[in-house]
Formats: sequence, structure tokens, C-alpha cells
Amino acid sequence: MKKRVAVLQGDGIGKEVTDASIAVLEAIGRRFQHEFEWKYGLLGGVAIDKAGKPLPEETIAICEESDAILLGAVGGPAWDNNPSHLRPERGLLQIRKHFELSVNLRPVQAFKSLLAVSPLKEDVAAGVDMMIVRELTGGLYFGEPSHHDNDKAVDTLLYSREEIERVVTHAFELAKIRRNKVTSVDKANVLESSKLWRKIVEEIAEKYPDVEYEHMLVDAAAMKLITYPSSFDVIVTENMFGDILSDEASVITGSLGMLPSASLRVDGFGLYEPIHGSAPDIAGKNIANPIGTILSSAMMLRSSFGMLEEANAIEEAVKNVLDAGYCTSEFKEIGRNILSTTEMTEKIISEIESKTVKT
Ligand code: NAD
Ligand code: IPM
Ligand code: MN
Repeated sequence: MKKRVAVLQGDGIGKEVTDASIAVLEAIGRRFQHEFEWKYGLLGGVAIDKAGKPLPEETIAICEESDAILLGAVGGPAWDNNPSHLRPERGLLQIRKHFELSVNLRPVQAFKSLLAVSPLKEDVAAGVDMMIVRELTGGLYFGEPSHHDNDKAVDTLLYSREEIERVVTHAFELAKIRRNKVTSVDKANVLESSKLWRKIVEEIAEKYPDVEYEHMLVDAAAMKLITYPSSFDVIVTENMFGDILSDEASVITGSLGMLPSASLRVDGFGLYEPIHGSAPDIAGKNIANPIGTILSSAMMLRSSFGMLEEANAIEEAVKNVLDAGYCTSEFKEIGRNILSTTEMTEKIISEIESKTVKT
């Protein structure tokens, strides 16, 4: 089966981690007889430099002609003082909005072989398996008015019923095929938008009598993610809370570089990217962890292409390589084998290829 994938490498380590992902997908193509066609587009700082804007029309056209989008990361110090409309991050927000990628899935799983390097105690991190469902195209990121001058600034936290219903329904549907539990995170003791959010969660929960649900205030959720992370199954929350909580949850796995994500439109079209940023501090050194992006491509295979066996093959290869004691350099534990980005990618590919039935 041939699939067209738009590749938006972005800035910093974006090229290194998307190259890794493409090499892994090529290996999957060889093993399972699929063909992938890669179409490269500019996004972020590199697009500002080469095309004068963070999301050029040509990039949108490339994505529209594709079956899915693979994204690295955007941003960096070179563009940090640009006006808002010329920031790399604006391009990312625009592409999410343009393609109506309203549901952002951020799975967090503790790998057994990395428990010792988690900043949490091993027995706290053990057994963590949660899905953070982050609303991605509403809330503070997009509400108007939004501006500042020297003396005052305003951002607007706006949510419509439809936006909340869409993401909350997705969360309940996911819970049904997981462990039947939804934790809805809000700040309903203060925010009006959270009061509506809570009301809608309760309405939707009535349609899912087998799914247990709870409301949790975001400050308490931040605490519980660290004290009792294995108690969560599906977490559903608004845009900014989800951004912050998912970075927090990522360290349970030992590194921000491990976490994948899928940003989905209701019809299943998706953009796949790691949750980390462009990591300017390590860019160009061939030391970035490619696993978050590689696992994002597994999510692409499963969610956009229905290639379940292929997605499992990537996830299993990653697990096997970690179990064999390999990791990238941000894991500082003594006694593990530290690999570069390209070496880690090669190890994962060898693992995928070792399962190929030779004819
Ligand atoms: P970051 O995620 O880029 O980096 C935070 C820390 O994690 C750094 O120490 C970095 O070296 C480390 N890290 C991140 N990814 C890693 C990986 N794959 N392997 C090993 N270590 C990794 O966050 P930041 O430094 O706050 O932001 C840098 C830039 O990235 C900013 O311009 C920010 O706006 C942007 N950003 C973009 C995205 C995105 O494109 N989705 C996400 C977050 C931040
Ligand atoms: C993420 C990033 C983005 C966000 C930024 C770069 C706009 O932090 O994908 O998590 O806040 O959504
Ligand atoms: Mn983030």
C-alpha cells in the first residue's frame, strides 16, 4: 500500500528526529511491503527564513495532498524576539487550526527497563500507562482578544460547547477500549470555561455508564501525577493544562524525548510529532533521542493507516532496544550503553529487520 506523508522537519533537532523516523518507516515498508512517499515542507523558523512566514501556503498544499503529516519541532533563539506573527510556534498553531486537529493524544507509558532512571522512585513510576487527551485548537492559545502593549496584556480563554464535546467524547471512547476510567482536569473552582467543561463532561458521562469518571482540579492533578501516576487511565483536559501536564508526565518515563503524540481531526486525518521542542541546546550534535518521533510514526501507522501489526512492530523494537540496555545520552545512569541519534535509529531498525521472514 502506498502512503504519502508530508514531512515538516522544522528547526533544531527536528531534522535529526524526523530523519530517524523516516528510516524506521522505510524499514517497516521493506518488511511489510508498503511504499511511503515523502514530501518535504517548510514550517517554523526555517520557513520564516526561507519563505517569510512560519506556515507558507506551499506547505499547506503539500499537507493537503498527503495522507498524514510527520513533524519534528519548531522554534529556537534566533526567532525568540520576533513579533508574534513571525514566531515559529505560530506556524505550529496555524497548522493545527487549519487542519482542525482538535484532539491531541499523548500516551505516557513507563518502560520497565528505564524505571531506574525515572526521577520518580521505581515503585511510583512502575505500571504507569495513561493517555493524556489534550484539546488542541481552542482555549487560551486561540481566543481573541489576545495582545499586549507596554502596560497591559490580554489573552482570552474561550471554549464553545462543540469544542468541549468533541474532545471529551473522544476521551470516553478511548477509555472504553482501555481501562474504563476518565479523569477530567479543570479549574472549575475559578474559571467559567471550566464550569462549562465540567457540565459537559457530566452530560457525556451519562452515555458511558461503564466508564468511571472523576473531576480533578489542575493543581491537584499536577501533584497526583507525581505521587500516584499509575492511578490515571485517560486524562482529558483543555489546551494549556494539557500542554503543561504532558511535559510533567513525560519525565516519569525518564525523558521528554520519549513521548510521542498524535493530533487528530474527527475524520482520522492526523499530524504526528514528539511532544518535545526543538532542543536548541543539543541540536546538530547527533545526540537527540529519536524515540518520541519514532513512536509518533507508530501512532501514524495505527491511527491514520490502520497498519496495526506494523505499529506494534515499531513499538516492540523500541522496547527490545531499551530492554537490551541501550539509551541516548540524556539518561545519565551509569552502566547503560549510550547511543547517538543515528546509532539508536540503526538499533531499532536492526530489531525490526531481525523479525523479517527471509524468503
Ligand atoms: P524543548 O522540549 O526543546 O527542550 C527541553 C529540554 O529537553 C532541553 O534540555 C532539551 O535538550 C531536552 N530535550 C528535548 N527533546 C529532547 C530529545 N529528543 N532528546 C534529548 N533531550 C531532549 O523545550 P524548550 O527548550 O523549552 O524549547 C525550545 C524551543 O522549542 C522553543 O522555541 C519552544 O517554543 C519550542 N518548542 C516546540 C515544540 C514543538 O514544536 N512541538 C514543543 C515544545 C517547545
Ligand atoms: C507542544 C508545544 C507547543 C504548544 C508550542 C511550541 C506552541 O509546547 O506541542 O507541546 O504549546 O502546544
Ligand atoms: Mn508543550
